[in-house]
Amino acid sequence: MNKINVLVIFGGKSGEHDVSISSAFSILSNIDREKYNILTVGITKSGEWLYFDKDIDNIRNGSWEELSNKNVEINLIKNGNREVGIKFEDGTIKKIDVIFPVLHGPYGEDGTIQGLFELSEIPYVGCKVLASSVGMDKLICKNLFSQMGLSQVDYTFTTKIDFENNKDLEISKIEEKLNYPIFVKPANMGSSVGISKVKNKEELVDGINEALKYDTRIVLEKGIDAREIEVSVLGNNCIEASICGEIKPAKEFYTYEDKYLDGKSTCEIPANIDDLTMEKIRSMAIKAFQGIDGKGLARVDFFIDKKDGEIYINEINTLPGFTDISMYPKMWEYSGIEYKDLISKLIDLAFDAKK
Ligand SMILES: Nc1ncnc2c1ncn2[C@@H]1O[C@H](COP(=O)(O)OP(=O)(O)O)[C@@H](O)[C@H]1O
Ligand SMILES: [Mg+2]
Repeated sequence: MNKINVLVIFGGKSGEHDVSISSAFSILSNIDREKYNILTVGITKSGEWLYFDKDIDNIRNGSWEELSNKNVEINLIKNGNREVGIKFEDGTIKKIDVIFPVLHGPYGEDGTIQGLFELSEIPYVGCKVLASSVGMDKLICKNLFSQMGLSQVDYTFTTKIDFENNKDLEISKIEEKLNYPIFVKPANMGSSVGISKVKNKEELVDGINEALKYDTRIVLEKGIDAREIEVSVLGNNCIEASICGEIKPAKEFYTYEDKYLDGKSTCEIPANIDDLTMEKIRSMAIKAFQGIDGKGLARVDFFIDKKDGEIYINEINTLPGFTDISMYPKMWEYSGIEYKDLISKLIDLAFDAKK
């Protein structure tokens, strides 16, 4: 059997560069080497694409300067006589059979790089352009979810222009719709960056100004005292949902520090919820994934209101954290799919989605 050439791309320009490297490291350590030949490209924080000759046991620690080979061309689009593939110094070209983008956040998870893959005509793991960009934009996604009848906490939005032109009017419109505490979020971000929980008008103004550093569109949500439940989905046309897991943030909410630095929050798989709630969440996750025309994978996050047990969808992540201890693969492991097999399944789905 001929081995399949998989191009694994990691790093990237987003704030989640380091998380992506950890995800890629786990994938490279576990991917089935009997089936796959691995090609690796790292994107630096400034957006430079580097090809690595050496298999990267060391991508987390090694210097990219030393590991990369700058004489290799990474051709993803047909260009004159250039073929698509990896072109080595001796002129040989290695065909890329499939791409596994292990990138999180803007430029990796938002449809931009997926557009490039579409142009390359190479199959790739995960959601296509539309689902990726919709999943990344909290405001568009919320509007879509409400149109699909998926219940969400009350929300509204403001924009940089409106806020700067008439701050008082915007604040009063927000206060009319929502009671404190309010969550303030940039529409396009991730990893809790730019998010704050505000308890009064003064904090609201500060929170909006903070969020405006990251985006010109801001989502405002009713803050609830919530349990945080997550579920993994997998598939193209026939979509499966894993059993649910629960995140228990160490702080008042699940912040960037908590996610990646302190690491004090804990998780519980399976989530300690009743069967009916589990089933509702799983079917809502599948509905959300289908609704954005998702392919391959996504992790869908929910809230359960501690007061009344109401279930709300929070967000969909189309390229969730993928280290071997990340929620996405862990929830599959508990549902019977080993990490290594999950990688193979995702690659199979990439070929299937291209048919
Ligand atoms: N409406 C809300 N009520 C209560 N907690 C919230 C609400 N929105 C967000 N949070 C908290 O903030 C965290 C980050 O918000 P989230 O929308 O998931 O952004 P990100 O895309 O950055 O993960 C959540 O995991 C949760 O802890
Ligand atoms: Mg989140």
